[in-house]
Amino acid sequence: MCGIIGISSNKPVSANIINSLKKLEYRGYDSAGIATLSDGEINEVKSEGRVDNLENNFDLKNLRGNIGIGHVRWATHGIPNSLNAHPHSSHNVSVVHNGIIENSTILKKHLINKGHNFKSQTDTEVIVHLITEHLKTLELEEAITKTLKQLHGSFALGIVFKDMPDLIVGARRGSPLAVGYGPNENYLGSDSYALKSMTNKITYLDDGEFCIVKKDQVLFFNEEGKKVNKKILELSSDQANYDKGDFKHFMAKEIEEQPLTIKTGIKEYVDNVNKDINIFNFPWKIEEINSITLIGCGTAYHSCLMAKYWFEELTNLDVNIDIASEFRYRKNRFKKDTLYIFVSQSGETADTYAALDICNKNSMKTCAVVNVIESSIARDSNFVLPIHCGPEIGVASTKAFLGQILVLYILALKLGSMRNEIEKKEYQEKIKDLKALPGLIEKTLLHDNDIQAISSTFNEAKGSMFLGRGYSYPIALEGALKLKELSYVHAEGYPAGEMKHGPLALIEEGMPVVVLAPRDNYYKKTISNMQEVIARGAKVLLITNKSKDEVVSENIWETIEVENTNDDLLPFLLTIPLQKLAYYSALKKGYDIDKPRNLAKSVTVE
Ligand code: F6R
Repeated sequence: MCGIIGISSNKPVSANIINSLKKLEYRGYDSAGIATLSDGEINEVKSEGRVDNLENNFDLKNLRGNIGIGHVRWATHGIPNSLNAHPHSSHNVSVVHNGIIENSTILKKHLINKGHNFKSQTDTEVIVHLITEHLKTLELEEAITKTLKQLHGSFALGIVFKDMPDLIVGARRGSPLAVGYGPNENYLGSDSYALKSMTNKITYLDDGEFCIVKKDQVLFFNEEGKKVNKKILELSSDQANYDKGDFKHFMAKEIEEQPLTIKTGIKEYVDNVNKDINIFNFPWKIEEINSITLIGCGTAYHSCLMAKYWFEELTNLDVNIDIASEFRYRKNRFKKDTLYIFVSQSGETADTYAALDICNKNSMKTCAVVNVIESSIARDSNFVLPIHCGPEIGVASTKAFLGQILVLYILALKLGSMRNEIEKKEYQEKIKDLKALPGLIEKTLLHDNDIQAISSTFNEAKGSMFLGRGYSYPIALEGALKLKELSYVHAEGYPAGEMKHGPLALIEEGMPVVVLAPRDNYYKKTISNMQEVIARGAKVLLITNKSKDEVVSENIWETIEVENTNDDLLPFLLTIPLQKLAYYSALKKGYDIDKPRNLAKSVTVE
């Protein structure tokens, strides 16, 4: 969370800092600020709210300086207001920070005793004063090394100094940070996305490293302050993906892009000639894997849950799933024959990365299913399966979810076939069905006016429920998550069979309940559960697949029929109406769909 940008140039930087901050708003958007250096002064401007507020509140054209840092914030310590907005500055040092300093209270006391004055409620300000203090007696590299050693927690930092007006210091522990290289200028950024409009030449800092960025030179140091050499990577250009085009919101665009997400994934992994799946360079023999553990957060965790059903069905392996923030603090029994799979769109989620790190430290087999292939999780895993869905900008994950479950399904199919758990004919039949999936998703996307009309009922209700069994249960959880995060309506996903064990008490007259009941093995059971909620007054939206049979229940409020495919693939189709339901609910309420309140796209703090 929080976005950082720094530019050291031979020309004024404020306009480019503003442009980059706008791109970084997906990381946080409760306040924004900039500090530039000119005429021996630190010029600091900050505002509550979006970068637009910063532009409206200050005449940024007059913000002079060829060097500067900028920040968009997602508050951790201290309420989101202009006082707590970054940068934070002393008379000599100005800092932008992403992360959390866990020992800030102790450090603050120590610094106050030494005569430092604090202005904000943030943890970040201790970094400013620590560096200021150390610079009284130490050279720059030593002062930075000493400061970083005193900080507990996670951080990415951008730092400028009144007395050193030609450089920016960047530092990383836990939170990602990249350096970019341009003509007569160099950059610091939270990720390559912020830098892409200026350069495609990037170096990622590793944990513990810091750097000194000048307009014509970048130096890197390890945590002991010793110089290190780093590789420069060239990123591919996919600029079109960063544009909303004709869509009102990135989320709307990303929902509609899902046939392409699936097509691209299939192209990447399916061998049409041999009707086989290619997972090139898979580093382990199939006999070395006897169980699988999938780990993720939020929507990515729902992908893990979805995959558990497929892996169990298709591979007959033991499958466990875990929420990364739980896994990282539990006493885990690590087994050499377990494959640990980390699912993450951004590849930077702090908890997922920490879980990966623990597995790596225990020499486990680690595999990343990520969208951002240059991310920390991708770089530090033994093996990477990219989802290839292009940048996802809307904070609520849509196409990345479908991309994740596609890759996990493909992996489950391949491992099932390698373990001889699936007959060749069935395997090839499933691959054939998979190839038809993009077309079926396109048809499902045509449900639009009907979902728009239904969405008002969800907005007006006190709360809602999403029910499913088997393959539909993870999709129910995902549908409920989408609705709550976008339209701020209370929504719960439940396995339909659990209703009698407590949640049924919540059902009252008129409560909207989504029932996912495709015609799979669970159909009759789910329909019985549906009747139980209807009998207690629920307004049921039934989502099922097409059939010549009549739906065996009366008093259903609304039905949406998705296309037919094999049972494995129905979850892909059931997801689409739920994404649209959340989108249209939020649209009707006039909420900020791409940037829901209190959230951020890349959760780089615990
Ligand atoms: C919900 C959503 C989040 C993310 C979660 C993990 O719509 O997007 O729940 O899925 O924060 O993020 P990644 O996948 O980047 O690790």
